[in-house]
Amino acid sequence: MNDTLENWKRSHYCGDLTSAHIGQQVCLMGWVQKRRDHGGLIFIDLRDREGIAQLALDPDRDHEAHEKADRVRSEFVVAVKGTVSPRPEGTVNPKMKTGEVEVEVSELKILNTSKTPPFGLDEYTEVAENIRLKYRYLDLRRPALQKNLMLRHRVARTVRTYLDEQNFLEIETPVLTKSTPEGARDYLVPSRVNSGTFFALPQSPQLFKQLLMVSGYDRYCQIVKCFRDEDLRADRQPEFTQIDCEMSFVDRDDVITTMENMIARVFKEAIGVEVATPMARMSYAEAMDRFGVDNPDLRFGLELVELSGLVANCGFKVFADVVAGGGMVKALNAKGCANFSRKDLDDLTEFVKIYGAKGLAWVKMTEDGWQSPIAKFFTPEELAQLNEALNAELGDLLMFVADTPRITNESLGRLRGHLGQRLGLASKEEFKFVWVTDFPLLEWDHETRRHVAVHHPFTAPCDEDVPLLDTDPGKARAKAYDLVLNGSEIGGGSIRIHDQAIQSKMFELLGIGEEEAREKFGFLLDALEFGAPPHGGLAFGLDRLVMILTGSDSIRDVIAFPKTQKATCLLSGAPGVVDEKQLQELSIRLRQQKKE
Ligand code: AMO
Ligand code: AMP
Repeated sequence: MNDTLENWKRSHYCGDLTSAHIGQQVCLMGWVQKRRDHGGLIFIDLRDREGIAQLALDPDRDHEAHEKADRVRSEFVVAVKGTVSPRPEGTVNPKMKTGEVEVEVSELKILNTSKTPPFGLDEYTEVAENIRLKYRYLDLRRPALQKNLMLRHRVARTVRTYLDEQNFLEIETPVLTKSTPEGARDYLVPSRVNSGTFFALPQSPQLFKQLLMVSGYDRYCQIVKCFRDEDLRADRQPEFTQIDCEMSFVDRDDVITTMENMIARVFKEAIGVEVATPMARMSYAEAMDRFGVDNPDLRFGLELVELSGLVANCGFKVFADVVAGGGMVKALNAKGCANFSRKDLDDLTEFVKIYGAKGLAWVKMTEDGWQSPIAKFFTPEELAQLNEALNAELGDLLMFVADTPRITNESLGRLRGHLGQRLGLASKEEFKFVWVTDFPLLEWDHETRRHVAVHHPFTAPCDEDVPLLDTDPGKARAKAYDLVLNGSEIGGGSIRIHDQAIQSKMFELLGIGEEEAREKFGFLLDALEFGAPPHGGLAFGLDRLVMILTGSDSIRDVIAFPKTQKATCLLSGAPGVVDEKQLQELSIRLRQQKKE
């Protein structure tokens, strides 16, 4: 039989005790992290969400408490009463917040026992992630996850306070809804009442927040779950949380200023870091040119250098042919990396091939000049020009890709990120923000052979580019912006189209017929005709933001109950099969399952 609480009330969190409490009577409750028997004296590390306190049990002080302490094991739930005392000289632990004190226990209750946990719950034990996820409730007892989730709470609280001060109203939008155009697959929910029809879970509240602007709510915000069935990566989850905002009577700069001040406040309050505002801005075109990607990590240089002009007529046919065919040649200079091994270079070549590059030409800068399979194709003048363009010096490693602009930029841009990590150029203590602006409005989709919206179909073109919609739509830029932090897109948004004529033009360009547009978002189009104010907004990925604030490598470490890379929950076993009866009610018959 376990002890009962009776009228015991906890007086302090274990982790809050300091030398300021010496002499006080306290009552603590928590989990046994560790029990050590020192021949007579028993020490227990008692843990709660705020930290660990050391309990000391002396058989001469209270025999019964000592006798119970002898029975406790890891993860037993224990309550104690006692006096806070200085630790004996030589046993002070300066690494622990509570390391100067211990509690001399006079009474002890065992509130519950525990099976032996499948892994140690201290900060140090390395545990395979599938085991951690299966026993997530135990994993969540560990200090690292507790710190992450507490910080996440502080971020959400700061966001709400700030947005409230700025007159935003938090308004909930439906979860059972229609497809929203954010470019991923929908999670569908069958309707029982209307058999054969389906709800889609929202990929974002985009359409509803625009409706709220039409309704005159002026400033909307919501910390909201979004659902996207897409390939998962270290910074993606099928259900994730957005800090979603929309504002009326604003232009791009108003949204950017309001949002960057919010992020600065979050950094100050969550981790005590001062972020300078206004934050840097960079056009999409410049980001692609210098970094090859639209989410550049500005913590380090290693910029891409375009060499198409210089190599247009060179003797290396691969380069000359690519330029002649309208392609692009670019290179990176990895300073001091001429000592990379043959295997390193092969690995880097394989790396760029993932992004479609056909090869990676490399040059080691040695005492004797270029050491490279392609050195022989260049004249001394060309070598000198390339060296100058790339600022090549003894000990450097130059790497070139020649391909279509898309492949050249993406493969070298990713290679830059990869090398930045490998060479330790990116510090987790540094925070480099940049707003990437002036995205193209449209992008050509080779598969479906038509334009698709880069952001979404409601994003407004830049005013000066509106005439291009008729002449050269591919060149039109959008009033869209992303906030990039250390190479990660933490938020994105745009000013929306509130003019019916431009919206129709946009659908025409996207090859979305009137019928399709009506069927998909007729309700929004109708609403836009009833006095839609100029409006725009943005959404941050809360999980990604907290990931960076906590220095986590995986998005799963900032979510209490995350999904695996295969979009399953190892704790609950979801998704699961359902009864035939349930399927019948939903008028659903499964196609023959393929045999394993
Ligand atoms: P967007 O699609 O850019 O914009 O999403 C906004 C932000 O949400 C985060 N995010 C994700 N985080 C984790 N897992 C995912 N699968 C995932 N997908 C996106 C990113 C991203 O920057 N309605 C628009 C916003 C607007 O225009 O106002 C939207 O959803 O950090
Ligand atoms: P090759 O003459 O095909 O043996 O190529 C010589 C070097 O150029 C090798 O290191 C290849 O990896 C590299 N290479 C081949 N094609 C390309 C390309 N399109 N862009 C950059 N390097 C390439």
